[in-house]
Amino acid sequence: MKEKLQQLQDKIAAAMMGGGANRIEKQHAKGKLTARERVHFLLDNGSFEEIGMLVTHRSSDFGMEKQRIPGDGVVTGYGTIDGRLVYVFAQDFTVFGGSLSETHAEKICKVMDLAMQNGAPLIGLNDSGGARIQEGVNSLGGYADIFYRNVMASGVIPQISAIMGPCAGGAVYSPAMTDFTIMVEHTSYMFVTGPNVVKTVTNEEVTAEELGGASAHSTKSGVTHLTAGNDIDCLAKIRRLLSYMPQSCEDKPAHLPFELKDEVRLQLRDIVPENANQPYDMRDVVEGIVDEASFMEVHENYAENMIVGFARLGGRSIGIVGNQPISLAGVLDVDSSKKGARFVRFCDCFNIPLLVLVDVPGFLPGTDQEWNGIIVNGAKLLYAFSEATVPRVTLITRKAYGGAYDVMNSKHIGADMNFAWPSAEIAVMGAKGASEIIFRREIMEADDQQAMLEEKEKEYQEKFANPYRATGRGFIDEVVDPKDTRRKLIKAFAMLENKTAKLPRKKHGNIPL
Ligand code: HXC
Repeated sequence: MKEKLQQLQDKIAAAMMGGGANRIEKQHAKGKLTARERVHFLLDNGSFEEIGMLVTHRSSDFGMEKQRIPGDGVVTGYGTIDGRLVYVFAQDFTVFGGSLSETHAEKICKVMDLAMQNGAPLIGLNDSGGARIQEGVNSLGGYADIFYRNVMASGVIPQISAIMGPCAGGAVYSPAMTDFTIMVEHTSYMFVTGPNVVKTVTNEEVTAEELGGASAHSTKSGVTHLTAGNDIDCLAKIRRLLSYMPQSCEDKPAHLPFELKDEVRLQLRDIVPENANQPYDMRDVVEGIVDEASFMEVHENYAENMIVGFARLGGRSIGIVGNQPISLAGVLDVDSSKKGARFVRFCDCFNIPLLVLVDVPGFLPGTDQEWNGIIVNGAKLLYAFSEATVPRVTLITRKAYGGAYDVMNSKHIGADMNFAWPSAEIAVMGAKGASEIIFRREIMEADDQQAMLEEKEKEYQEKFANPYRATGRGFIDEVVDPKDTRRKLIKAFAMLENKTAKLPRKKHGNIPL
């Protein structure tokens, strides 16, 4: 028995060492933690239970039979975050570059299956060069097994992917099918093909950072939702993100204790400028409404004309979607529509109520937008709101013009409660554009055309540039004094707590992808 125990201890020591002490030092020298250190900092202290620590690969090609490292480049298991069960895998770059063999894939699939069967989130800490080249189709098959499970788990349990090193091939496609991706700045990259292949095929010279660093993917492609300064920051952000989510689609997010007090927020009266063309930061409206320091913005630097993120309102977890007047006047375009639609669908999957803040002058015109499919992409947001069955509340702070009024969670597409501030303007278009079209003849015939335009603009403004016509029709439920907004919204979401709504029986809808 003594001998057998010694054998076990040796095997565990080899597994703990991953690709050897020297390589662990190399990992640290790059500013990266090892796979086990990452799991340790992600989970509650002492909660991790490892599964498959002694698994080795089965390959014998290219001399691989002489290189069997226990664990085979991935640490898998389960533990808790803030006392709640989660499943985790962490790839170990020190073992064959974290590449995915058949057995490495089997280990990941095992925790994915457990996560699905037991209804708890799955967190993947990716640091991998993709399919293990020495294993050929066995590793490709392993990836497909993971992709398939990513899809089956989508909408059932939250799936979060951290990118914590250079990730290529399958190591980026699996994260792309999960709900949220977070990249560590300067040490992580995501690309389907790296700079060398790019140079060979297109003759383009590009660095790994330019091609697929955190900055490129958080601003240009939108592939990553969050970035982190280092590994520890990344793991802390995952913990925070999870705090807004339920364990699975069968659950509701945790509700923190809350007692309604006066909830008056005078600062909300001073945010929207008198001049309708002057910008303001919609984040100030969010901060004024939600529980203190509870707003966690995602996709912050991508499609900045729309903000999305999680917050707490009266202790409840909510998702926020808002137009952002300080960027492109808050207009809807291709990227912001995709960003908003994806977020709305995530919240709807996981029973997170939606608060929609509207100040939108319409859709962005131009060939760039039309040729990039603003029609079909704008339709994504319209579709996502329309099919969402979670409690949905809208607040129009200023402009709600044209089709964008319909799209931004209007009553007509199923919103439950629609509020407006007195500064709201709900109309087909702004006063100047509208006057120039409908009063063209009067203006042309006037002696003083500018004076006539201004007079007509004023007339239009008085008739349409307010929330009262829509309120008179019941499309807006109430015009509220900004200072009372927080209280109104807390009460509205409490009232909608037990909302049940069903979509018509169907296999699945056909969102315009
Ligand atoms: C086997 C691999 C590997 C791989 C890296 N290694 N990637 N071994 N299979 N896919 C090994 C290296 O040989 C090296 O071993 C060690 O890991 C570290 O790699 P380096 O290249 O020294 O590291 P670095 O310079 O940081 O570059 C990292 C990298 C690069 C950018 C990830 O290694 C790389 O380009 N790898 C190949 C990426 C790739 O094309 N993967 C296949 C994708 S296809 P030693 O022993 O020297 O330390 C795919 C299909 C899935 O995934 C389907 C998609 C739909």
